[in-house]
Amino acid sequence: MSETNWQVPQQQLLQQKDYAEQVRALLEELYPVPPLAYVHSYGCQGNVSDGEKLKGMLADMGYGFCDQAEQADLVLFNTCAIRENAEDRIFGNVGALKRWKAQSPKHKLLLCGCMMQQPHIVEKLKQSYPYVDLIFGTHVIHQLPELLLSVLQQHKRVFYTPESDGVIAEGLPIRRDGTLKAWVPIMYGCNNFCTYCIVPYVKGRERSRQPEAILAEVRQLVEQGYKEITLLGQNVNSYGKTLEHPISFAQLLTQIDAIPGDFRIRFMTSHPKDATKELFDVMAKSQKICHHLHLPVQCGSDRILQAMNRRYTVKQYLGLIDYARSVMPDISFTTDIIVGFPGETLEDFQGTMELLKKVRYDSLFSFIYSKRVGTKAASMLDDTPHSVKSDRLQQLLALQRTIGEEVLSEYVGKTLRILVDGAGKSGEGYLTGRTDQFLIVDFPGDSALIGQFVTVKITKALNWALLGELVSE
Ligand code: SAH
Ligand code: SF4
Ligand code: F3S
Repeated sequence: MSETNWQVPQQQLLQQKDYAEQVRALLEELYPVPPLAYVHSYGCQGNVSDGEKLKGMLADMGYGFCDQAEQADLVLFNTCAIRENAEDRIFGNVGALKRWKAQSPKHKLLLCGCMMQQPHIVEKLKQSYPYVDLIFGTHVIHQLPELLLSVLQQHKRVFYTPESDGVIAEGLPIRRDGTLKAWVPIMYGCNNFCTYCIVPYVKGRERSRQPEAILAEVRQLVEQGYKEITLLGQNVNSYGKTLEHPISFAQLLTQIDAIPGDFRIRFMTSHPKDATKELFDVMAKSQKICHHLHLPVQCGSDRILQAMNRRYTVKQYLGLIDYARSVMPDISFTTDIIVGFPGETLEDFQGTMELLKKVRYDSLFSFIYSKRVGTKAASMLDDTPHSVKSDRLQQLLALQRTIGEEVLSEYVGKTLRILVDGAGKSGEGYLTGRTDQFLIVDFPGDSALIGQFVTVKITKALNWALLGELVSE
């Protein structure tokens, strides 16, 4: 399919601008001062990035913002469906707003995001949470003005969660969370269908933004003073395949790298099956691309990797790590691990532990497998007791703690460049920032340095971060 099929026509986006104007006029009638919205995005950075656009649209419609749901006139939760505990937390937070909702008929509660693409969840919300005003799906976020207008005008609940392969809506208003670091989605959706994962069902097919649109956005961000650009996609290594004129992720990176300015580039997430030597070579040559790779392995057993439909072996994965290290000796790795996938034996789990010892990640995210309705793994026999899975997770965390501390201590004495983020946690007068390798460094310094790149010499490794001192300002 060519990319032209994914784009929301300009005409439709202009129509939404009209609806936004109508909402604005209505709000001016309803409220003596601009109403406040509280927006919270759960889940991955892609969702956070969608949340920035939702806020952009709300700002366009005349909303101000507050950081507590209870103080808001409108609450919008942009939800995540990746694991059961993510969903439970959102149900809990919706439940907690029952009283707020009852305080005024003007209070509006809106839900969108990945959970809303699951019919059984929408049904539950319809039946058991009658005070939710608007539910809309992942493929229609650009229609927020139209949907909100009908909620405000008609005083009845609206549910709009169409099934779709997905769309790309360019040029939506955006209200970014920070002034230093920006998220830039380069693609949406996922075609990989890892057997445990809900994402392909709720975010639609993989589709890439046009390189020109991405480059223009990055250029504008750099001009606005952003110092760190993180390119987002569920599988960035497969960027460009859906374009009419396909280009590879490595080629896109090369073009972004050539944009003049003092900024750095990160990206996530990389799928090992699509990581290429070309990518590592581009990273090695570049001045701006950080030498950090989040390369989710999920597990260290070929049998389980196959059952997960990950389409690489442990050997191939280790080959990638070796190659990347050969061209970038300073590269750091982080990963995601799922413990207790259906049918995982002790031997499979030991394979994961061995892999951790071989790769020596700086840090990792680990999760107990969570059954997702509609996925292939949901119908697999899963007879490992939860207590065994929890125990394995604890073992894994303990091993990683030891490895992580060793890896961090190897940085002592090194000189590294960091982007200064804000106040550090290590005490009065400390600032904090991250290295290219994504490590946190706290160091004593003047707050005027916030927002700048500085060089620090690492003096000590704590178990969660490094301590350093300024080398040059
Ligand atoms: N696209 C990324 C991952 C996105 S989801 C990739 O392929 O690497 C982030 C992480 O959540 C995954 O890497 C996986 O470790 C975890 N995850 C996804 N589905 C899960 C499930 N059903 N149970 C437990 N963990 C899950
Ligand atoms: Fe989920 Fe796999 Fe796609 Fe990642 S690559 S989003 S784990 S299906
Ligand atoms: Fe969650 Fe959807 Fe992201 S399920 S992890 S918010 S793609």
